[in-house]
Amino acid sequence: MRKPFIAANWKMNKTLSETQEFISKFIPEVKDVSAVDIAIAPPFTSLALAAEQLKNTNVMVASQDVFYEEKGAYTGEVSPVMLVDTGCKYVIIGHSERRQYFNETDDIVNKKIRAAKKTGLGIIFCIGESLEEREAGKTFDILQREIEKGLEGIDPENMVIAYEPIWAIGTGKTASAEQAQEVHEYIRNKLNILYGKKSENLRIIYGGSVTPENIDLLMYCKDLDGALVGGASLKIESFTRIVKFRKVK
Ligand code: PGA
Repeated sequence: MRKPFIAANWKMNKTLSETQEFISKFIPEVKDVSAVDIAIAPPFTSLALAAEQLKNTNVMVASQDVFYEEKGAYTGEVSPVMLVDTGCKYVIIGHSERRQYFNETDDIVNKKIRAAKKTGLGIIFCIGESLEEREAGKTFDILQREIEKGLEGIDPENMVIAYEPIWAIGTGKTASAEQAQEVHEYIRNKLNILYGKKSENLRIIYGGSVTPENIDLLMYCKDLDGALVGGASLKIESFTRIVKFRKVK
């Protein structure tokens, strides 16, 4: 049995005081949730504060990105060691917004995963196809390439795979449970080929317009082990309801 993993991706949202307010109200709401791994990925500026507030709670802190060098003349970048230093436990790598707006290639994603893993950080590795690619029937080709190149030479330990169809991110268009299940099953098979028995513990989570309204049905899918939540994670009430999902048929 894989324990569900539900993470908030705040993207470029929330100041320090907004982070503090959210977390102080969120902790009591979810303190009794033990059946789900919960993480929050605030912007870099809020990482240390969030980690301090979440110390000794059942909520982990994640970063939204990382650079692959250890230190040096890389203006604006943040290294894996720096993330660990803040108290961060996970890092999101390869988010489609990074690939799309910041030209992150599979090669860069692979380097980031390697570097982050060296420090023991858990990885939330994002993959997903665009609308154009889906309509051209290339969904599985894209996923295959992203998985094979992104994970080349990488040990799967402490890794979560996030399937995030780009057409569903921030658009209000969620993949249907059937569409999500079909892709998650494909990814699970792929991971099984790559990692054999070790792949059984890997969680494959879904992201793309997850809301309190659709989480229950999504979590019913056999191969769907959690969610990466953007917009709906910015409000305490909606993110709490997502974390406390109820499986329905
Ligand atoms: P969304 O974002 O929930 O706002 O669609 C998800 C993500 O990009 O991780």
